[in-house]
Amino acid sequence: MTRHFLRDDDLTAEEQALVLQRALELKAAPYSRTPLAGPRVVSVVFDKPTLRTQVSFAGAITGLGGYPMVVDGNLAQIGTRESIADVARILGPQSAAIVWRTHGQERIEEMAAYAGVPVVNALTDEFHPCQILADLLTVLEHKGSLAGLTFAYVGDGANNMAHSYLLGCALAGLHVRLGTPTSHQPDRAILARAKEIAAQQGGSVVVTSDPAEAVAGADVVVTDTWVSMGMEDQKGDRQGAASPFVPFAVTESLMAQAAGDAIFLHCLPAYRGHEVEAAVIDGPQSVVWEEAENRLHAQKALLSFLLEDA
Ligand code: NVA
Repeated sequence: MTRHFLRDDDLTAEEQALVLQRALELKAAPYSRTPLAGPRVVSVVFDKPTLRTQVSFAGAITGLGGYPMVVDGNLAQIGTRESIADVARILGPQSAAIVWRTHGQERIEEMAAYAGVPVVNALTDEFHPCQILADLLTVLEHKGSLAGLTFAYVGDGANNMAHSYLLGCALAGLHVRLGTPTSHQPDRAILARAKEIAAQQGGSVVVTSDPAEAVAGADVVVTDTWVSMGMEDQKGDRQGAASPFVPFAVTESLMAQAAGDAIFLHCLPAYRGHEVEAAVIDGPQSVVWEEAENRLHAQKALLSFLLEDA
């Protein structure tokens, strides 16, 4: 059966650990695996803006011996000019895998149903699972292990990053704390699934509307933009002085309530003065540039896993 990576829990805890271990190996020996030698094409399709994802998938695919065929979704108009199923039947036979950044999760599920090759979620409205692999890799490098650490995400609790942190960090056995306004709670089914995974893996999941409670003593503090792609028309409400997110901004004083050796992560792009103060993201606890580079290594390991092991 063809394996896909459409959401974080498409990997088991054991498989996630294997991918992270392989990412460390590939980071140390970048050309040690070439499952795409030929080179075989991987289609990388973007229906939304990108920078890190495009460059890191291009590097990952090239590093594995393949060729990244980047497709502009605005030109392809998937789902309007032709159906998702038809696009899947075009791309699938010509690609070793399909990587897609798109809108609703149901779109990537339909692609996976018809592609016949692994489909990888490069961000949807609901999830961003590749980013979580890179983040876990970064935490692993800094802390030496994952299970048992406290991971605090503060900000928009209803967005793709929040959902993927819930699932992906629960799989890794972390204690996940989500600090978000009561108006922006995570999807109930995803939260319930994260709690179920956490119970199996020895971690925990707490959602709170108190930012100080979320970050108290945390080993990792994370945030994300308050204005995700596609929400630009809500920018005033989400970034303005009356935004419900204002108390959740990662200021120096909020960061000081985490563990003394806590690290700060942000998937980027970052909006200094909104979700994070410049003094934090540009300060000594920030590891965001390593985190961005780790997209490359984590995605390389993921593709290697899907093509060689799954
Ligand atoms: N929540 C953000 C993540 C960007 C990587 C967005 O969807 O725009």
